[in-house]
Amino acid sequence: MYGLARPFLFALEPERAHRLGLASMEALHRVRLQRLLGARPRPFPTRAFGLDFPNPVGLAAGLDKNGEHIDALLALGFGFVEIGTVTPRAQPGNQAPRMFRLPQYRALINRLGFNNNGVDALVRNVERARRQGGLLGINIGKNKDTPNESAVTDYLHCLERVYPLADYVTVNISSPNTAGLRELQEEQALRRLVGELREAQERLASRHGRRVPLLVKVAPDLSDEDIDAAARVLGDLSVDGVIATNTTVSRIAVQGHRHAAQAGGLSGEPLMNKSTAVLRMLRTRLPDGIPLIGVGGVMSGADAAKKTAAGATLVQLYTGLVYRGPRLIGECVEAIRRRKEAPSRGNLPNL
Ligand code: FNR
Repeated sequence: MYGLARPFLFALEPERAHRLGLASMEALHRVRLQRLLGARPRPFPTRAFGLDFPNPVGLAAGLDKNGEHIDALLALGFGFVEIGTVTPRAQPGNQAPRMFRLPQYRALINRLGFNNNGVDALVRNVERARRQGGLLGINIGKNKDTPNESAVTDYLHCLERVYPLADYVTVNISSPNTAGLRELQEEQALRRLVGELREAQERLASRHGRRVPLLVKVAPDLSDEDIDAAARVLGDLSVDGVIATNTTVSRIAVQGHRHAAQAGGLSGEPLMNKSTAVLRMLRTRLPDGIPLIGVGGVMSGADAAKKTAAGATLVQLYTGLVYRGPRLIGECVEAIRRRKEAPSRGNLPNL
């Protein structure tokens, strides 16, 4: 069914198509006709960060920034859905147009800039959700007008508010669309920010009697030295997991396209190799006990299997859903299952 809807959606301005796509999915969910969008994948239980995921394929952050569609998205068959990025206060994001399609490349460029309704609105939405069939990650960030020196206050505020509701929390320091945000990945800033958040996590764990895993999401545009430093800090501070990666500011893979000069983060097929390379490097540098989520350019089951071959325990996707529709979820689950269950191929570094 998505194959029929796609030409219509692609004829619309991308953000309108985005809203209409989500509204249609929500409507089908409410009348229990969501199976028209495709069969749910067979379960493939996967354990990471002390959590049991029904399957290892999740929705990446940014599609459901306010947590308004959690149940409909889980009903598509995702093993987990990550909502956000949410900031303490509501903010409008950048001026439109701020999302662009590059169909020849099966890619998107976005500079939304953390448009969201604020953490209190997200909490209300999550409280209303039934959350059946999969887990919920909540991705937190800082407001645009909060300087980096006080960014920790924004992250701490969001962490405290979402902690009792989240299955895991992601610290987003890698969006290219909030000026200066990615500087928080530099060694000293990272150590200070994540150090304070880890302490808060321990306090919250005893207050709530439940330990919620804390993950950090990194950019694909880190140099080898940056990756070394980030892995050192995240390993020292024993974060529960790392998500690799966010969108890229590089345009090398889409040179010459009419939208290539648009500011923002590039996602989809042209991101696959770059983000998988960062994932692979992180796997070799992080302690074995810190699992990775591989995200960036997963457009097929084979791509998902490549992420697991590079060291990912779980996989997420966003742009692939736009180009391929919900059937991609089951395709990825089956490809990861085949790779894991084929003993002779299990140890090959690449499929
Ligand atoms: C994103 N992404 C994102 N990531 C994040 O941590 N917080 C966010 O708010 C957003 N917002 C967002 C909006 C749009 C329109 C896109 C396309 C992407 C990044 C996303 O979660 C993912 O890391 C990248 O898009 C790479 O994966 P795909 O899209 O290539 O599968």
